Amino acid sequence: MIIAIDGPAAAGKGTLSRQIAETYGFQHLDTGLTYRATAKALLDAGLPLDNEEVAEKIAREVELAGLDRDILSAHAIGEAASKIAVMPAVRRALVEAQRTFSQRKPGTVLDGRDIGTVVCPDAAVKLYVTASPEVRAKRRYDEILSRGGEADFAEIFADVQKRDERDMGRADSPLRPAEDAHLLDTSEMSIEAAFQAAKVIIDAALKK
Ligand code: CDP
Ligand code: CDP
Repeated sequence: MIIAIDGPAAAGKGTLSRQIAETYGFQHLDTGLTYRATAKALLDAGLPLDNEEVAEKIAREVELAGLDRDILSAHAIGEAASKIAVMPAVRRALVEAQRTFSQRKPGTVLDGRDIGTVVCPDAAVKLYVTASPEVRAKRRYDEILSRGGEADFAEIFADVQKRDERDMGRADSPLRPAEDAHLLDTSEMSIEAAFQAAKVIIDAALKK
């Protein structure tokens, strides 16, 4: 069984995916990390971010086993990831790796932007997790403060909007809900409430 979780930045996809994976004993892949790992490898090697052929070669070398959100969390890496994510050759390479991962075990949760529409169009459960841009920016802001960092809300809000435009506006695999996705607007939901809503949908699919 494959569970596809898509949605914009800071909607709560990762938090929900990890809870689902833990509850049902499923493997989990945060596909955003594959774009981030490719971007970091390019940055570390001093390679250009605007050469599709070079970026594809690096994307094909990404090891799914070593992906770590802490190592890949830097803002500059996220920015670079969102730039190379518009390149069709990079997407093809990473989608291949994501599909291979999804077939490795009987239960899988994948989260990203195009899981229900492109990576796993036959997923048994598709959730499109979203929240208003204000709420998502506030979540990112709180996250930084809680780690003892400093943040500027207006800057984060502008960043969320820019990320949305790039994700929804690209020609290849733009962010949008799959036709058969369940929409989950978490703007006014706690993490637990969002999980309970998802659980009802997953349990119904498991009974089929
Ligand atoms: O993976 P994605 O970027 O969609 O979001 P996330 O990293 O799971 O969540 C972003 C932040 O929002 C985290 O700090 C979560 O704890 C928080 N969050 C929340 O406050 N309420 C929710 N319903 C979901 C997430
Ligand atoms: O930084 P943020 O939490 O918004 O995103 P992420 O999930 O860490 O992914 C980094 C970048 O990769 C995003 O800006 C997306 O544009 C891109 N991405 C994608 O195009 N397709 C996916 N399935 C996952 C991520």
